[in-house]
Amino acid sequence: MALLETTKLSKSFGGLRAVSDLDIAIEPGTIHGLIGPNGSGKSTFFNLVTGVYQSDPGSRIVFDGTEITNMPSHEVGALGIARTFQLLRLFSDMTVLQNLMVGYHTHVSYSILTAIFDRGAVQRYDARTTEEMMDLLEFIGLADYAEMPASELSGGQRRLLALGRAMAMRPKLLMLDEPAAGLSPVNVEHFLAIVMKLKEKFGLTILIVEHILKVVMETCDTVTVLDYGEKIGEGTPNEVKDDHAVIEAYLGQEMDDDEVRAILRT
Ligand SMILES: Nc1ncnc2c1ncn2[C@@H]1O[C@H](COP(=O)(O)OP(=O)(O)OP(=O)(O)O)[C@@H](O)[C@H]1O
Ligand SMILES: [Mg+2]
Repeated sequence: MALLETTKLSKSFGGLRAVSDLDIAIEPGTIHGLIGPNGSGKSTFFNLVTGVYQSDPGSRIVFDGTEITNMPSHEVGALGIARTFQLLRLFSDMTVLQNLMVGYHTHVSYSILTAIFDRGAVQRYDARTTEEMMDLLEFIGLADYAEMPASELSGGQRRLLALGRAMAMRPKLLMLDEPAAGLSPVNVEHFLAIVMKLKEKFGLTILIVEHILKVVMETCDTVTVLDYGEKIGEGTPNEVKDDHAVIEAYLGQEMDDDEVRAILRT
């Protein structure tokens, strides 16, 4: 059974159909790529799944056996879906560790009554949480920066922190929206190596939006291609890359086979 399955998922903004009758099934334990030209509906798909946008009537989203269509974001998070944003939304005044805590607390929160009547329990809980979060920072290579304000991190470190904050929610499904945007090739490799390590360690399923074709080709088990909100192709990276229509739509121009191959080699 698919971990995430959408049926006839649609979203209109006025007259524009940003996502149109989209059926996508993400199998557990896989890395599923979502690609397509600018404005093809990739981020909108993320926003529909995570309850940021309401979908059009007739849409259906099921996660891990539970219908989550139009469910509020925090409930979707509690069920096990975490995401990063295309434009990072870190709390720049908070420390690196505090940023992770925010992710953690959106997943588990002790009741206000416990906080008032049993401070010991809260402190024990916080000590344990801190330890867990420090382990996570260690894992993504940011432990030395735990007490540093997030604003002082480099671009690559911020991308890792956004990843860590999503992981702090202990997700089953991790959704990454252009997580490597703006990184140098070396940093992209480093970032992906950490994603793969996290996947193994926590048994994650991953949905990734990525413009760097090389990343998609090397990491994804399955790729779905969107154009104008519709699915125009799906398959293994190899199947998709041989689909001429897909490549042309993706790159927005007509090309002969040699040109397509040349681009895929880069
Ligand atoms: N809140 C909104 N209000 C109106 N239109 C929107 C809104 N969000 C997205 N759109 C439109 O929906 C379409 C799909 O946008 P979306 O951000 O999902 O594309 P994308 O595939 O993520 O593109 P990119 O690769 O540039 O990130 C675009 O035409 C966009 O302008
Ligand atoms: Mg986008």
